[in-house]
Amino acid sequence: MGCMSSKDQGPPQKAINSNRGQKYKAAEASTAEERSNQKHNEVVQNFSQVYKVERLLGTGAEGNAWLVRDVNADKLWALKLLKLPLPARFVQSVFREIRLQSELGEGHHNIITPEEVVLTSHYLGLVMEYAPGGSMTQYITDKFRDCGGVGLLMPEDEARFFFKQMVNAVDYCHRHQVVHRDLKLDNTLLSGHNPPYIKLCDFGFARNWDGTGEQSNMTTVIGTPDYMSPQLTAAKTGNQGGKVYYDGTKADVWAMGVLLCVILIGKFPFEGDNVSSMGVTDPMKKVWVQQHRNKWDENSMLQSQLKYLSPNARDLLDKMFDLDEKNRISIQGIMEHPWYQTPMRSHFEDALGTLKQEQDEVEEKLAKGAYRSAERDAAIDNLIKLSASGDFKSKATEPIHKGTIVPVWTRLSLRTVQPEYPIFNRDSLRACLAVQQRAHGSITAHAGSTPMDPTVNTKEDAEQEGRDV
Ligand SMILES: Nc1ncnc2c1ncn2[C@@H]1O[C@H](COP(=O)(O)OP(=O)(O)O)[C@@H](O)[C@H]1O
Ligand SMILES: [Mg+2]
Repeated sequence: MGCMSSKDQGPPQKAINSNRGQKYKAAEASTAEERSNQKHNEVVQNFSQVYKVERLLGTGAEGNAWLVRDVNADKLWALKLLKLPLPARFVQSVFREIRLQSELGEGHHNIITPEEVVLTSHYLGLVMEYAPGGSMTQYITDKFRDCGGVGLLMPEDEARFFFKQMVNAVDYCHRHQVVHRDLKLDNTLLSGHNPPYIKLCDFGFARNWDGTGEQSNMTTVIGTPDYMSPQLTAAKTGNQGGKVYYDGTKADVWAMGVLLCVILIGKFPFEGDNVSSMGVTDPMKKVWVQQHRNKWDENSMLQSQLKYLSPNARDLLDKMFDLDEKNRISIQGIMEHPWYQTPMRSHFEDALGTLKQEQDEVEEKLAKGAYRSAERDAAIDNLIKLSASGDFKSKATEPIHKGTIVPVWTRLSLRTVQPEYPIFNRDSLRACLAVQQRAHGSITAHAGSTPMDPTVNTKEDAEQEGRDV
């Protein structure tokens, strides 16, 4: 496991097998614990060394994402790992992230498809489709270097090619009553195609609502300040008492406006770390001040770049940055806007044409209910609750590194709806812990945080919201 040194990577399969051979003979099962182990023999048999770590892909608020290889199938995946035990306040938001991404990912080509959720001795892991093109942050950083900060970061039709994919993916989420609430460059990944397709990831702040569009109203202040709509940043102005009420779909539209502005001109229209915000220190409040002081295109930092933008691009951004969310352009309005409708060079048009064709096929399948499963949701819920178990408390923690083998205790497929899902319960967990303990001698806990520790931040808000639901 990741918490062990390379020569101590969890119970090797052979050791488990031989251990099992001795331990599970009925005649030798004298203690209650051993009888329990015997009963859960079949769970322990599932120990399998599946994933080998290749490299770190990215660090996030909740945990790190790693590029891993399935050693049996020789296939690459992204694996996002959350350290165990999962703090109780994360249970609801992690469940929501995995469930929503499972429902949406398989149904849209511009959303990362989750493959399975796994439990290891030290981590809860989400195995996902790997986006080899890296994140949009890296892509535009390279573009900025290439253009030397002069002119547009990329031609408008290239920006349109990416933006259209983003709008399609977000429209798909909204049509399925889900708002993403953390749309940004870091959460926009790229495929290995040429030109690259975007792959939306990180549903950690996503939220669904029931019924009609009328109910997409939210109250939790969540997201990343630079991308937050004025309805969200208003929470820090004092006269709101920290309370907000906003339409989540319009908050996503605002964030997409920020994203479009940055991919076109390489600058943020409103910045949480802007130094000249009249003595204001809080990033959200700084953004709020900038949003209300001037129109986005009056920001002095943008002036040298704005002259390169077409009038249509400016008009669309104007409409996306309407302070009043009721007047702010909708996704439908964006799709009908002349800038959005302007034809692109043929290789972009062709790539989007192919994508659309594939998307239509997926949606047809989806209409038949192919990817929904109450049983799967229940199994995910069970596994996540188990991840918060105090039984993991005494586990030592060590950073994961290249070459670490991740043996999984149990795995739930998120992709294909199964007639039955494996049940991994408290007894199974204890059986696994006991076997591992025997294989390694006593387990020594050591103090101190590790790079894998989930950071306590706005996820608390998510949990808070969970209680509101
Ligand atoms: N499927 C993936 N393929 C490639 N890189 C990924 C993938 N998932 C995550 N990453 C990288 O890891 C980073 C953190 O993952 P993310 O899901 O955004 O976690 P967090 O909720 O902690 O922000 C991303 O910004 C990205 O750079
Ligand atoms: Mg992220």
